[in-house]
Amino acid sequence: MTSVTNRPLLVTCGLPYANGPCHIGHLRTYIPADIYVRCLKKLRQSPLFVCGSDTHGTPIVINAEQQGTTPEKFAAYYHRYWKDTFKALSVDFSHYGNTDAPTNYFRTQEIVKALQENGYIYPLVIRLAYCPECDRFLPDRYVEGVCLFCGMPARGDECDQGCGRHLEPGEVVDPKCKTCGASAEYREEKHFFFKLSAFKDFLSTYLETLGGTANARNYAREWVTNELKDWCITRNLSWGVPFPGTDLVVYVWVDAPIGYVSFTEEATSTWEDYWKKESNIIHFIGGDIIYHHAVFWPALLKGANYTTPAAVVASGMVKVDGETFSKSRGHVVWVDDDYLDHGFHPDLLRYYLAGYTSHTKELNFSWKVFGEKVNRELVGSLGNFIYRTLLFAYKNFGRVPEAPVDGAIIERIAATREKMVSALKEYEFKKLVDAAMSLSDFGNAYFQSKELWNLVKSDKAACAREVKNCIQLVKALAVLLEPVMPSTMRRVQAQLGLTSTYFSDATVEVEPLRLSQPALPFTKIDEKKIVELEITLGRRMAGGSQKAPANEARATEATVELEDFKKMDLRIARIVEAETVKKSDKLLRITLQLGDETRQIVAGIARDYPPEELIGTDVLVLANVRPANLMGVESHGMLLAAEYEGRAVLIRPSQKVPSGTRIR
Ligand code: MSP
Ligand code: ZN
Repeated sequence: MTSVTNRPLLVTCGLPYANGPCHIGHLRTYIPADIYVRCLKKLRQSPLFVCGSDTHGTPIVINAEQQGTTPEKFAAYYHRYWKDTFKALSVDFSHYGNTDAPTNYFRTQEIVKALQENGYIYPLVIRLAYCPECDRFLPDRYVEGVCLFCGMPARGDECDQGCGRHLEPGEVVDPKCKTCGASAEYREEKHFFFKLSAFKDFLSTYLETLGGTANARNYAREWVTNELKDWCITRNLSWGVPFPGTDLVVYVWVDAPIGYVSFTEEATSTWEDYWKKESNIIHFIGGDIIYHHAVFWPALLKGANYTTPAAVVASGMVKVDGETFSKSRGHVVWVDDDYLDHGFHPDLLRYYLAGYTSHTKELNFSWKVFGEKVNRELVGSLGNFIYRTLLFAYKNFGRVPEAPVDGAIIERIAATREKMVSALKEYEFKKLVDAAMSLSDFGNAYFQSKELWNLVKSDKAACAREVKNCIQLVKALAVLLEPVMPSTMRRVQAQLGLTSTYFSDATVEVEPLRLSQPALPFTKIDEKKIVELEITLGRRMAGGSQKAPANEARATEATVELEDFKKMDLRIARIVEAETVKKSDKLLRITLQLGDETRQIVAGIARDYPPEELIGTDVLVLANVRPANLMGVESHGMLLAAEYEGRAVLIRPSQKVPSGTRIR
C-alpha cells in the first residue's frame, strides 16, 4: 500500500466487456477493489478510482450480428447496463468511461504513434485464417479450431479450455469459420507487430519490484523467462480504433488498457501526474488476465514513455463446482437473475466475496456457504451484537449513557484497526473482514459475560458504563466495516448520529445522544430459498436451462431462425401421476404419457397446482430438453407455463388431441 508516499494514487479495475451481463466471477475484481479504495479514503488518502466498458473486439461484433443490431448499439446498451450494475452494488468509481469514446481513440493513436517513433512496431506479412464462403479474413473470435500448443478446442485469440495461452493469428489449428462453419484457409496479409521481445530485460527488472499480489509477479516472471513473443496488434475489422495510416483497426487488447489512461484524462485535468510522472498505479484484475497486465501492458507503456503500474492485484478465479465460469456450459451465477432479482442486499454479497477466502485463491461459489455466512456471521454475530446493544440501551436508558469508555475497549478497537490496515497492505480482504468479525464476537461475549440484564437491576450506574463500552464497539464496527458493507453500516452509523467516520474515529468516544428504536441490520435467509437457488444452478449446469439471462434478450429485439425453433420437440402430453418431491415445497414429480412413451419430469409448480388436480389433464412439454437431476429426482422434459403475477399458469391445448401430438 501507499500510505507512506505522497504520489498521486490511481486504482483501476479490469474493464468488463460490454458484451453480456455481470456474473459473480466479475465481482471478485470489482468488490475488493472498491473495498480497498473505500478503506484508503477512510485513512484520509485520495485515490482516483477509474474503470469503464471494454467495447471493442470480435465477440461484440459477432453477438451484435447475431442479434441483428450494430456493435455501437449493442455495446452502448451494455455500457449503460454495467454502469447501473456498479451503482446497484455500491461499486463507486470516480469515473466510469468507455473505450469507444473520442478520448480513447485519440490516446490509443497517440500511443501507437509513439511506439512507432520509438521503433517498437514493425510490419509483417502473415498468414491469416480466411473464410472462402464469407469471403473475409477471420480475426480472433471469428475463428474456432484447436490450440497449437495443447490441442484443446480454442477460440480465436485464446485457449480458454486448455493451456490458457494468448493465441496469435495462425496459432489456431484446423480453423473453422465461426459464422458459417466452413473450413477456413490461410491467406497472406500485411499486419503490424509490437516488439514485446525487446522488453525482456526491462520486464525482468520491472517484475522484481512490482507490487500487488505474488501470483501476478510469479506468473508474469515465468512468461518473461520462458517465452516472450511479439504481438500482432492489428486486425481486419471495421469496429475498433483505426490503426494510423491503414484500413485495419488496433487489436482490442491495445485500446482496452489504454482506456485506463483515457478514463483518467476524462476524470481529471491532472491526468499526466498519474501517467507521465512518478505515481502509484494499482491494477485490480482477475487471475485470467495477468499476462496482459503484468507483461504486455507495462512493455507498451514503457515503449511509449508512460509511467508503468506500481502494482497488479490479481484475484483467484471464481468457479462453480470446480469449473471455470462458462455461459455456454451453464457454469455461471448471474448477479441480476440469481441474486439481485431475488431481493438479496448487495452488502451480503460484498461480505461473502471479500471474506470467503484469501484474495489470490480460487473461490468455488456455493449458495450453501453464502447462506451460512449470512445467517451465522452477519445475522448471528454482527447483527445480533449491534441490535441487542442498541435495543438494550434504548429500552433501559433511552440514550447513549454518559460514562467513560474503558481503556481496554479502546485498545481492543485500536488493535483491530491495525490488523485491518496491515491486511489491506497485503491485499488480504479475508483477514480484514476476519479482524472486524472477531471484534464483533468479542462484543457478543462481552455483553454476555457482563450479564447486563441483571446488572441493570442491581447497579444501574455500572450497567451504564458497560452499555457505553458495548456502544463504543458498535460504533467501531460500523466505521471499520463501512468499506465492506457501505449501506448497512451507514444505517447503523446514522442510529448513533455519527458525523465523522474515518478509521481514526473508531477510537473516538461516541457522543451521548438520544437513541431511537433500533432496526435489525440483517435478516435471516430462509434455508428453503438457498435450496431453490441450488436447484436452479444445478439445473443450469445439467443443461436444463441454458436460457440467456433476461436482460440479454432485452438488449435488442432478438430474433431466432426458424431452424432453431424446429430443433425443439414440443408435444402434447397427458399427466398420469403427480406427487410432491420430498423436502421441497416447490417441486412436483410428474409422470407423463407421451404417445407410447412414459416420462418422468420434475416441475416447480407445487405452489400453484395441487397434484391431484393435475392428474388426467393435458399439457405442453418440451420433450427433447437435456435430462436434469433435481433434488435427486431425474427429470426428462419441461412443462410449458406462463409466468403471471409470480405464479405458473400451465399452457393447455384448446381441444382434446392424442398425447404425443407434435406442436409446430
Ligand atoms: N475486457 C477484459 C479486460 C480488459 S482490461 C484492460 C476482460 N473482461 S471480462 O468482462 O471478461 O472480465 C472483467 C474482469 O472480471 C476482469 O478483471 C476479469 O479478470 C474478471 N473476471 C471475469 N471472470 C472471472 C471469474 N470467473 N473469476 C474472477 N475474476 C474474473 O477480461
Ligand atoms: Zn492451449
